[in-house]
Amino acid sequence: MSGLRLLVRDVAQLATPAGREAPLRGRDLGAVEVLEDAFVLCAGETIEAVGRMRDLSRVLEPRDHEVVEVDARGRCAIPGLVDCHTHAAFAGDRVEEFALRAAGASYEALHARGGGILATVRATRAAGEEGLRAAVERHRRWMLRHGTTTFEAKSGYGLDRETELASLRAIRAAGGIPTWLGAHAVPPELDGDAGAYLDFALAEVLPEAARIAEAADVFLERGAFDAAQARRYLTACREAGLALRLHGDQFSEQGAVPLAIELGARSVDHLEATGPDGVRALARSDVTAVLLPASALFLGQPMPPARALVDAGAAVALATDFNPGSAFCESLPLCCSLAATQLRLSPAEALAACTVNAAHVLGRADRLGRLAPGYRADLVLLDAPDWRYLAYHLAGDLVAATIVGGSPVELR
Ligand code: NIG
Ligand code: FE
Repeated sequence: MSGLRLLVRDVAQLATPAGREAPLRGRDLGAVEVLEDAFVLCAGETIEAVGRMRDLSRVLEPRDHEVVEVDARGRCAIPGLVDCHTHAAFAGDRVEEFALRAAGASYEALHARGGGILATVRATRAAGEEGLRAAVERHRRWMLRHGTTTFEAKSGYGLDRETELASLRAIRAAGGIPTWLGAHAVPPELDGDAGAYLDFALAEVLPEAARIAEAADVFLERGAFDAAQARRYLTACREAGLALRLHGDQFSEQGAVPLAIELGARSVDHLEATGPDGVRALARSDVTAVLLPASALFLGQPMPPARALVDAGAAVALATDFNPGSAFCESLPLCCSLAATQLRLSPAEALAACTVNAAHVLGRADRLGRLAPGYRADLVLLDAPDWRYLAYHLAGDLVAATIVGGSPVELR
């Protein structure tokens, strides 16, 4: 075997979603394989072997000098976490708004008054491409400290040609997977005219955005874009070769679930307001339901019907929704805690939802989300004697080390 090999040895517990299928649904979502006293052998960027320490000699010569070793005694290993829904391309903050909300102002009312998303649009436009690149890179490091080794990030705080494209380039430059959220809000210069904004975005931004991004996303909600506008935007994006995502049912059901199914979207995300019909429809479909409990918590919204979705057989993923307004939270472990305490998912279901199923939403489940031979060598070592601390240790300092593409990465 040539190339650099890295042996992570003496792992207290190694936990990985079982099997090779994606997405995992129903009972399979909670099928986690746990190996005590384990190793992971990485060859270059790929996992070569996973097993128990007592079987190590079957894959490694005792005097193999080319192997770099990482001692994982007292630690647990899980796959690198995959955050399939973030808005990491933003500048500035919304701490003033946060304080106003704490005193009783509503998120939707602040948005309607030109604050909210539009406040971040002003700050992001003013940052310039260099400022934006620095911001996304900073956010990437925050995510990595919480065990996120793959992240998707959306544009959507530019809403003009230059800043939307700069956002997508900044996400790529930081190693993220870019989604063009061209239909996030109507920018102030168009004075609420969503149709005119879509004319502009589809004619002037889409052709270049489609070269940089992998997917397109729309905020389908009262006060943002309606179902007809969302259909128009997504259909054009699909013709340009982009995969489709939707922000839907965050505050109210406006037809996002049927539209996602009709258009063959990869996911519909949020779903705090989804009722039984939406749950049933998703369960029969290939659209993944992306749950964002940090956003529901941050805004004091009801939690999405996670248990009903999983029990009905829907494909479910878990993500942070990291953004400055509705979820200033980059921690997937915290989302796993919320999944266990608020969504009634087991730690095993939470793990699969932010590894394999999140990788599926990003079209990468063949390479990401599991600790098994042939998968990318992305793993997280937890400072914990049991891997379920991932959900149990609420906001704990849990991530001891991260290995990305077979190389240990400095966290601080
Ligand atoms: O997913 N809901 C729409 N967009 C983001 C929030 C954006 C913001 O408040 O800046 C979300 O929650
Ligand atoms: Fe979002």
